[in-house]
Amino acid sequence: MKEQLEKIYKSACEELKNVNSTSEIDELRNKYLSRKGELNEIKKNLKNLSDEDKRIIGSLANEISEKLSNELKIKFDEFYTKELNEKLVKDRIDITLPGKFTREGKVHPITSTTDEIVSILQGLGFSVVPAIHSPEVETEYYNFDMLNFPPDHPAKDMQDTFYTTVAPNVILRSQTSGAQIHAMEGKNPPIRVISPGRVYRNEEVNARKNNFFHQIEGLYVDKGVTFGDLKGVLNEFIRIYFGSSRPTRFRSSYFPFTEPSAEVDVQCIMCEGKGCRTCSGTGWLEVLGAGMVDPNVLKGVGIDPDVYSGFAFGMGVERLAMLKYAIDDIRLFFNDDERFLNQF
Ligand code: PHE
Repeated sequence: MKEQLEKIYKSACEELKNVNSTSEIDELRNKYLSRKGELNEIKKNLKNLSDEDKRIIGSLANEISEKLSNELKIKFDEFYTKELNEKLVKDRIDITLPGKFTREGKVHPITSTTDEIVSILQGLGFSVVPAIHSPEVETEYYNFDMLNFPPDHPAKDMQDTFYTTVAPNVILRSQTSGAQIHAMEGKNPPIRVISPGRVYRNEEVNARKNNFFHQIEGLYVDKGVTFGDLKGVLNEFIRIYFGSSRPTRFRSSYFPFTEPSAEVDVQCIMCEGKGCRTCSGTGWLEVLGAGMVDPNVLKGVGIDPDVYSGFAFGMGVERLAMLKYAIDDIRLFFNDDERFLNQF
């Protein structure tokens, strides 16, 4: 037994020489000194020995446990300090490292242009209709019929419209003009409202046209409203929006829901009127349609055209943004290129 004890001690010392970490020392302590450890196993067998041997072997076993446990402690302290120092070096906070930045979001140029146009028009006395009166998923009734498009009129497919599968007459609106009807239904003039929103057209996409875009509809109905009032509002809007004089022209046009009708073109900023890809060689970009509200439209919503008159306009937000910021392709607004969006 004595030999056995010495052998245990020797092999423990041998193993202790090769340890490399505090956790390995803990393992050793378990193996040799714990309740189920090798030394304890021997102590358990002491009861079978003579009193004399019990005393000798017992005290030898205690001596070895004590020695071993001291040696383990010394080694443990050594590794503990070493490991702690390593950890402190590794975990040190380097205050010279650059911080983690959260990138700031930006307002999309279509949103900021819409906000700007809306605030100019508010300054001219218009208020924004509630969103519920300006739905993107619309019925033909509001988008066409009530706007004086006869059921079989070719103008109905003049704007190639996206039809839905919800019901045969439910469409993605092709213009914000339906908001005029929502604004007038069941109400008495004076009505002076605007309605910004997205519209959809089944068109071939190019530098000037996308198959969805944004419009701002305007409507003013009251006693004695004239075409002169319409021109005055639009000229004032253009003057404020562009901040300086920009060559602009009114062109006569046709819309089923206005009579007379006009379109407003602003000189192309990319070529200054010389003609380029953006304006398809014309030197001008159309930014809005407008006109005096057709008496039939007023009658349809129960407003007497002999008492009241009105004007309406619909502006193209993308076109107005392109002309202000010299953007040569409408598709840039929609392809989420951060190099473009970060400039605003
Ligand atoms: N809704 C017409 C369009 O999208 C524009 C317009 C609005 C014309 C109001 C006249 C009056 O082209």
